[in-house]
Amino acid sequence: MHKRFAALALAVAMTPITGTAEESAEMQPRIDASKAAIQDFFGALKGELVKGMKEGGPPHAIDVCHKVAGPITANKAQEHDMHLARTSLKVRNPENAPDAWESGVLKQFEERKANGEDPQKIAHAEIVEEDGRQVFRFMKAIPTGEVCLKCHGVETAPEVQAKLDEYYPEDEATGYSLGDIRGAFTIKQEM
Ligand code: HEC
Repeated sequence: MHKRFAALALAVAMTPITGTAEESAEMQPRIDASKAAIQDFFGALKGELVKGMKEGGPPHAIDVCHKVAGPITANKAQEHDMHLARTSLKVRNPENAPDAWESGVLKQFEERKANGEDPQKIAHAEIVEEDGRQVFRFMKAIPTGEVCLKCHGVETAPEVQAKLDEYYPEDEATGYSLGDIRGAFTIKQEM
């Protein structure tokens, strides 16, 4: 097999596909699998969040998220056989901090949004070389919805803030408004 370029970039949705047809054909099944995994992962997290909110409002939902976000992430990664996580330029849990490639993509997402792209549709796929190996990487933006504002908004209720201070003393993930990019799902898979 011939040696590939270090990074074959392909922006998904809304933007024209770059690279050759062969490259995009190779990535498409992985992009489809990534989107399916993200939908499943997001559904599982949101299910727990909604249940927690119904049972005891945002402070209780924070207890729940704090407890289950990590295990759900690990389970779904194993189930879908890929590195799967959430990240952001401003993280709540330091374990979700982006690596250099992820923070570069997150910054591009902000630019794409500023240029008028719908954050619901912003995603990016790329084949990168890491330690001499080819790795497929994919990220999909997560827009801030109404329900998110209770825990990530500009103003948080005192009982919410108290919980956040307790679990996440280094929390950076407040101050968001409706439609802002809260972060992104991130996927990594060896080729
Ligand atoms: C009840 C409070 C609450 C609500 C509502 C909430 N979150 Fe969070 N969010 C959290 C907590 C707590 C964490 C940290 C979880 C952990 O420990 O990994 C978190 C983490 C995240 C992360 C991972 C990156 C990071 O900052 O660590 C993303 C992305 C995220 N939330 C997006 C959202 C979005 C989008 C919504 C709305 C659909 C939302 N959240 C609603 C409490 C909340």
